[in-house]
Amino acid sequence: MVILSETVSTVVTAVTPTSVRTATRADLLAIYHIEKASFPQPWPFSAFERFLGEPGFLVAWDDEGGVVGYVVADSVPNGGRAIGHVKDIAVAPDHRGEGIGRQLLSQALSILGDNGVGWVKLEVRDGNEPALSLYREFGFELRRRIPRYYADGETALVMVRPIEA
Ligand SMILES: CC(C)(COP(=O)(O)OP(=O)(O)OC[C@H]1O[C@@H](n2cnc3c(N)ncnc32)[C@H](O)[C@@H]1OP(=O)(O)O)[C@@H](O)C(=O)NCCC(=O)NCCS
Repeated sequence: MVILSETVSTVVTAVTPTSVRTATRADLLAIYHIEKASFPQPWPFSAFERFLGEPGFLVAWDDEGGVVGYVVADSVPNGGRAIGHVKDIAVAPDHRGEGIGRQLLSQALSILGDNGVGWVKLEVRDGNEPALSLYREFGFELRRRIPRYYADGETALVMVRPIEA
């Protein structure tokens, strides 16, 4: 048997580091594009404009892809310690599973903590396994269910977690 010689080539994949920073107006179109690719009922463009300047409005950026994800989180006073709210988070479909959602959520929670938040809440579709799994990883627990919360009739799960002072 003849053994054919093989050329073994090593493919070196460049890993582009993703950084997370505060969202700016210049990011909004890319954010809106990801939003539309991610949700059946996307937020309108104007909704993102309203959160500009909010410390918990962050984008994940890589030098090749530009804006590859975002998170919108804010807080409201609640007598003693404020309550944080993760209102929206999405990663561009072709960048999912790269740890970017985890990076965004981690940074948003840290900013909420720095701003005096004691508890954080969020709503998630009952059937959204990737998001549920991400939130559980961060210690979010089910607080209550809201049937027909979404326009298509799907139930929302309200999840909460404390933030250590
Ligand atoms: C939810 C979402 C933001 C996660 O972002 P991501 O960058 O793909 O997630 P990461 O790569 O950081 O993964 C972090 C963890 O999330 C969970 N996760 C991510 N993708 C998952 C999948 N397809 N299935 C199950 N769990 C998944 C896992 O727990 C994962 O940890 P692991 O890699 O150790 O298993 C992303 O899937 C997304 O944009 N979805 C569409 C928008 C959306 O549904 N947003 C949530 C609204 S409530």
